[in-house]
Amino acid sequence: MIEGLEELRLQALGCRACKLCQTRTNVVFGTGNPHAQVMLIGEGPGETEDLQGEPFVGRGGKFLDKMLAHVDLSREKNIYIANMVKCRPPQNRDPEKDEVAACIGYLYRQIGLIKPKIIVCLGRVAACALIDPSFKVTKQHGQFFEKNGILMMGTMHPAALLRNPMYKPAALDDLVKLREKMDQLGLA
Ligand code: URA
Repeated sequence: MIEGLEELRLQALGCRACKLCQTRTNVVFGTGNPHAQVMLIGEGPGETEDLQGEPFVGRGGKFLDKMLAHVDLSREKNIYIANMVKCRPPQNRDPEKDEVAACIGYLYRQIGLIKPKIIVCLGRVAACALIDPSFKVTKQHGQFFEKNGILMMGTMHPAALLRNPMYKPAALDDLVKLREKMDQLGLA
């Protein structure tokens, strides 16, 4: 276990810093190997995640796991997955500014404790918050940017891929680029 991560999780489980605490079933803190060198960051829990307390366990999550397996990555082995906000926005709307502001500290502390070498942002919301506010996923996906000593990449959100299957080959290509970068840097 990473020292401090369990304390942070317990703190998040009791969080009442924004209005999403009133409608959540579970806080979705994060899951995967806390010693992973790669973190994947999504937007916020959906209905299944809210019910189960784990990120990306719905239809999009199952598709994400399949794509990860294609490049020999998995949350059990070499990936840690978390979200920008830890509680489900009602009707899966985008998280609001004040909600992100109230929650982002948990993510920053997770990143600080896990110390990933690479962060992959799944979708626009995470990429705009972590890479660049004007990030365009359709144009800039698959490119690496260095920020504070961490390599960051944005790619399509799994739910968007289920809605627009034509982007699936490009998303898979992004994961191949991730795998190549990991191999280049000697990351497991
Ligand atoms: N979408 C996300 O961004 N995160 C999840 O955990 C589930 C769906």
